Amino acid sequence: MHPAFETAAAASAIPITFATRSSWDSVRATLPEPPRSFAAANAFTAKPGQYLALPDSAGGLAHVLFGIEDEAAAWRDPFRAGQLPGLLPAGVYRFANAPHDARLAALAFALGHYRFSRYRSNDAPRARLVPPDSVDIADITRMAEAATLARDLINTPANAMGPEDLAQAAQDLADAFGASCTSIVGDDLLTRNFPLIHAVGMASSRAPRLIDLTWGHPSHPKVTLVGKGVCFDTGGLDLKPSSGMLIMKKDMGGAANVLALAQMIMDAKLKVRLRVLIPAVENAVAGNAFRPLDVFPSRKGLNVEIGNTDAEGRLVLADALALADEDKPDLLIDLGTLTGAARVALGPDLPPFYTDDEALAADVARHARAENDPLWRMPLWMAYDSWLESKTANITNAPSGAFAGSITCALFLKRFVDPATRWLHVDIYGWTPSAKPARPEGGECQAARALYKLLGERYG
Ligand code: BES
Ligand code: MN
Ligand code: ZN
Repeated sequence: MHPAFETAAAASAIPITFATRSSWDSVRATLPEPPRSFAAANAFTAKPGQYLALPDSAGGLAHVLFGIEDEAAAWRDPFRAGQLPGLLPAGVYRFANAPHDARLAALAFALGHYRFSRYRSNDAPRARLVPPDSVDIADITRMAEAATLARDLINTPANAMGPEDLAQAAQDLADAFGASCTSIVGDDLLTRNFPLIHAVGMASSRAPRLIDLTWGHPSHPKVTLVGKGVCFDTGGLDLKPSSGMLIMKKDMGGAANVLALAQMIMDAKLKVRLRVLIPAVENAVAGNAFRPLDVFPSRKGLNVEIGNTDAEGRLVLADALALADEDKPDLLIDLGTLTGAARVALGPDLPPFYTDDEALAADVARHARAENDPLWRMPLWMAYDSWLESKTANITNAPSGAFAGSITCALFLKRFVDPATRWLHVDIYGWTPSAKPARPEGGECQAARALYKLLGERYG
């Protein structure tokens, strides 16, 4: 069970009563005196996010009131209860009434409990929740623990999370679930035909590698996850400005999230043959760095011209996707923090996804909504495919125009996937720029929960 939850009997737990602006009058009528007057004296109106602790006669904490949005509000945050761990003093609590969706509220409570504690451990919330009876607490724990894994990996600074550290994280996960994990490292990437992964990673003193994790019965349908593992993205010789480089420790967010998804899949024992591929590199600056207008072969056979060394994520994914395709997976999914353009289009909290499979697109959208793990479909708009033409090679990694950057990235990746493969690409952000309920500032688990539920439905 997740550390945010408490198994002790609910009787001694401090009740949390949820109210909305419109339900507040009737909720207030149920309160005894003097708490009822105390709430009025504190001008409690059940504004969303408003919190009030009610004292008992001895001055102790008797009861908590918390404002949430109306069920029918034009917009309501299903994770509103995720604010509570940051507000409540240490203690054991329970929900006294239903906060619209008790499952998402309990999940939000666990997600909101997270703090990145590797370098400073004393500010973690210490309020714990007796989970509502109606919810599957094992499943919520599984999702919250996966979010912790993704967040911890992303939040860990690049000096402590290089390609080798990322491989160790995959190995640790493999060990925990009896999976196997291997890596192809450094110049072996060239002899084993991963020219693009090598090209992007070779300027770093920390050798590039391709991490390959396998789990599950070989007779089960093959699901392959590919995650962008750029442990730090300076932009390469097309160096990013300092403002753009500042959060590029998160550029392995795709890798972090496929590992989080793999953890949920293995913990839930889904009936899949799972393969996780992570090209883990550092996009560094050095004399031997790859350059603009260099041309490299790729595993797929296409020669790739480098239009911009900062479009490195699609390069490392291209070789990994080509490998993934070689054993014809039933479903191929890649996640990566690939473009700033995705953020311009949809903002940090709503990653675009791409697929030509209509049934898959509908399922992704449905689970994203149900899990409050928002995703929005964007098109593989073939009319823009010609923008990838190179004057010298088969394809460029960076079209010269500035339009539709997330789409052209997706189209680039599509060139490396067999048209017959059922393929989903998600251009995640992997980061919460400023704290919101259940989402502390920093590394974020994105798409993994929605995809876990989708896979559970298809392969449970
Ligand atoms: N890792 C970045 C994308 C990114 C930037 C994600 C900022 C989130 C926030 C990626 O490697 C990149 O630099 N992409 C370029 C591509 C361009 C050079 C074609 C971009 O989006 O500017
Ligand atoms: Mn880049
Ligand atoms: Zn990048």
